[in-house]
Amino acid sequence: MDVEIAAATGPAGGGALAAPGTALPYTPSRPRPARGANGTGRVDFPRDFLWGAATAAYQVEGAARTDGREDSIWDVFARVPGAVLNQEDGEVACDQYHRYPEDVALMRDLGIKAYRFSTSWARIQPGGREFNAAGLDYYDRLVDELLGAGILPWLTLYHWDLPQGIEDDGGWPVRDTAYRFRDYAVATHERLGDRVGVWTTLNEPWCAAFLGYTGGQHAPGRQSREDGLAAAHHLMLGHGLAVEALRERAPEANLGITLNFEVEDPLNPDDPADVEAARRLDGAFNRIFADPILRGAYPEDVLTDVAPYGLTEHVRDGDLETISAPIDTLGVNYYHGNGVAAVPAPAPLAGNAPLSRATSSPFPGGDGAYVHPRGLPLTDQNWEIQPEGLTRLLLRLQEDYTGPRGIAMYVTENGCAYDDVPDAEGYVEDHDRIAFIDGHLRAIKDAMDEGADVRGYFGWSLLDNYEWAWGYGKRFGLVRVDYETQERIVKASGRWYGQVATDGSLPELPIR
Ligand code: FCB
Repeated sequence: MDVEIAAATGPAGGGALAAPGTALPYTPSRPRPARGANGTGRVDFPRDFLWGAATAAYQVEGAARTDGREDSIWDVFARVPGAVLNQEDGEVACDQYHRYPEDVALMRDLGIKAYRFSTSWARIQPGGREFNAAGLDYYDRLVDELLGAGILPWLTLYHWDLPQGIEDDGGWPVRDTAYRFRDYAVATHERLGDRVGVWTTLNEPWCAAFLGYTGGQHAPGRQSREDGLAAAHHLMLGHGLAVEALRERAPEANLGITLNFEVEDPLNPDDPADVEAARRLDGAFNRIFADPILRGAYPEDVLTDVAPYGLTEHVRDGDLETISAPIDTLGVNYYHGNGVAAVPAPAPLAGNAPLSRATSSPFPGGDGAYVHPRGLPLTDQNWEIQPEGLTRLLLRLQEDYTGPRGIAMYVTENGCAYDDVPDAEGYVEDHDRIAFIDGHLRAIKDAMDEGADVRGYFGWSLLDNYEWAWGYGKRFGLVRVDYETQERIVKASGRWYGQVATDGSLPELPIR
């Protein structure tokens, strides 16, 4: 294997900043120029910068009832009328369960050095009952295939697919689910820990908690502020318990979590009401996870915002120590920022899938905060394209969260949905996607040059896949998937990204 990831050598093993600690207030920052120091020239990344691609189990595997797998909350949610566009589900998806040798070979041929995938809890522990050896066998095969191709396996234990049996017992709002998650983490590590060195506990707990239990846009589709907050706490507790258990089993393993961040900017930075609205969203999206996990405390202002909804009733003595157990890696997912104001936008951008089923705001503490379009270019999903936000985000994380604890950062997701138009052979000339990724890599390098310890980048996604409530309607892949035939066709962006990964550098603009 030609890629090695070592555990962090900084003070992550303990020290003065060990939990519980102090949370941070919101400090607004101002947008930087659209292009930074690495704006248009050739950009060389450090030789050991890790170039990867990402997917998640439910989005690509298919084989929903094979070898003992049972329903996850996503299988059940996808059957709810009006929950997913065109009532699509992950029964077949990209069929990676059967086609993984082809997908691994594709990555090897492109020059991709790391594969971020997730294990399906519902495959490994169907119904939340006994562990399923046949389910673990699949990940065994996948990991061996990756290692054989010289590709680093980057394993995420939870990318939103809770076994339905555990949801039936109360799901994430119930404390016991955190302990069950730890047991699942240990069983998976027991089987794969000899070959997998990088372990991510959760992907984007914000989505799992608040889209799943408060907004209802995602599985299991509940719409309760109380449940969302309880879920958030127990997801973090499960993360901390898993980190403690895996650390004990494998002190040398690289342990971490992936959080999603948005840069929340006041629409008018000189209007205190807009600053207050941006503070609320920053708390409800970013600091509600970053501060407990990375600083050992909930932010006071967030606790005030959500005071009516019972969060603190779930916090027991010792929880924050567990939640802030030292980690080696913070995975950063970044797609866009927001302009936030205290009044509704006259013409808001439609950000959710157009579905008949009613949903709610996913922000228990976000009342009175409204996202406004700022006239920035948009992806096909109406997400504003704002690479400079990523520079600011990484610098803020470095200074306030990861730097003092010696934690390395990897951008574990970044990418864009575009309305790809294939030619007769299925080939897509997606220069819009190349420009998106190029711009964000330049923004990352700007942050690195100013001191952010960023060690790698994973494009979302290796393949077009099941985009949750959007079904198969949004394509994020570097590789096109023809869902009729399951044929994979590398897009222009995939070829370009493979070259970047091989060279370790971005070519001078314009891209030819
Ligand atoms: C992230 C998810 C990932 C994918 C991208 C577009 O929030 O982690 O599964 O859906 O968005």
